[in-house]
Amino acid sequence: MNTLRPVGIIGTGMYVPEKVLTNADLEKMVDTNDEWIVSRTGIRERHIAADDQATSDLCYEAAVKALESAGMTADQLDLIIVATITPDTFFPSTACILQDKLGAKKAAAFDLSAACSGFVYGLATASNFIGSGMYNNALVIGADCLSRITDYTDRNTCVLFGDGAGAVILGEVPEGRGFQSFDLGAEGAGGTLLKLEAGGSRMPASVETVEGKKHYIYMNGREVFKFAVRVMNTATGDALKKAGKTKEDIDLFVPHQANIRIIQSAMERLELSESKVVVNVDKYANTSAASIPLALVEAAEQGRIKEGDCVLMVGFGGGLTWGASVLIW
Ligand code: ACO
Repeated sequence: MNTLRPVGIIGTGMYVPEKVLTNADLEKMVDTNDEWIVSRTGIRERHIAADDQATSDLCYEAAVKALESAGMTADQLDLIIVATITPDTFFPSTACILQDKLGAKKAAAFDLSAACSGFVYGLATASNFIGSGMYNNALVIGADCLSRITDYTDRNTCVLFGDGAGAVILGEVPEGRGFQSFDLGAEGAGGTLLKLEAGGSRMPASVETVEGKKHYIYMNGREVFKFAVRVMNTATGDALKKAGKTKEDIDLFVPHQANIRIIQSAMERLELSESKVVVNVDKYANTSAASIPLALVEAAEQGRIKEGDCVLMVGFGGGLTWGASVLIW
C-alpha cells in the first residue's frame, strides 16, 4: 500500500448476542431440516439479537473490547466507521449513535454500506485516513442484525443469517507490518440479485410494502453463489499480486462466512490446508459485515495468528461488491 506510514490492527473485539437459534429450532418454523442446512451451507446455529438490542448495541460491546485490547480509551479515537446494512435508523448513523455511547467525543463518525464486503471496505477507508496522516487511529466495525430484515417464513433465506459485531482499532505499526494491499470492487449490474427493496426513496414504506414483504432480504442464491466463487478467486489473486505475495505465503485465510461450499472452493484454488483457514460459519451463519471480523477476531483470540503472519481476507456480497486485503499481523 502506498501510504506515508504503515497501518495495521492494534486492537480487536467481538460480540454475538446470547440467544442461539439452532437448525432444530428452524425445523419447527419452516419446512427445512438440519441435514439440508448443514450439507448445503455448513451452518448449524446462529446468534440472534434480543428484542431490545439494535446494531449499535452489538457494536458497543465489540468496541469496548477492542479499545481495551488496544490499551486505549474512547476519547482518544479519531474516527469511527461502522460497516452495516442494518443501521439502527437511516439517520443518525449507527456510527454517530455509537460515538455517543462510547463517549468518543473527538471522533468523526460515519456508516459505510457495502453489505458483506463492508468490513474490508471500512479497513481500506480507515487505513488511508491514517496512512495519509489525517488521523492517528480509527475504530472499524462490521456489524449487522440481519434477523431484523429476514423473513422467518422463507426457508430459502431464513436459515442463512445471524447477528453479530466484530471491531478492530487501526493505528500505525512497525515498518513491514500492517496492510499490504486492498482489492475492492463492485458489479452494480448484479444489484437486483440480492436486495432489500422497500423503505428507501425508490419505494417508501407503505401498507403495501409491508404486506408485500418488501422489507425483507431477497436473494437469488444460485446466482450469488456463482458470483461468490468467481470473485473470491479473482479478488484474492489481485490482492496477493498487489502485495507482492503468492498463495504459498498465506499463513491464514479469513474468508466471508456465507457458505462452507464457497469457502471450500476458494481453499482448493488457493491450495490451502484446513489449518490455514478460519471457518466459524457453523456457529454464527452469515452475519454480513460482521462475518470477516468475527472470524478474524476469533482466530486472534484463539492464538491462531502470530506476529508477522500473512493474513488474507476476502468478502463478497450485496451491491454486488467484493473486497480482499493482505495484512501482515
Ligand atoms: N430447507 C430445505 N430445502 C430448501 C431450503 C431449506 N432451508 N432452502 C431451499 N430449499 C430447496 C429449494 O426450494 C430447492 O428446491 P427445488 O429444487 O424443489 O426448487 C432446493 O432446496 C435447492 O435449492 P438451491 O437454490 O439450488 O440450493 P443451493 O444448493 O444453491 O443452496 C444456498 C442454496 C444455500 C442459498 C446457496 O445458493 C448459497 O449459499 N448462495 C450464496 C448465498 C450467499 O453467499 N450470500 C452472500 C451474500 S448475503 C448478503 O450480502 C447479505
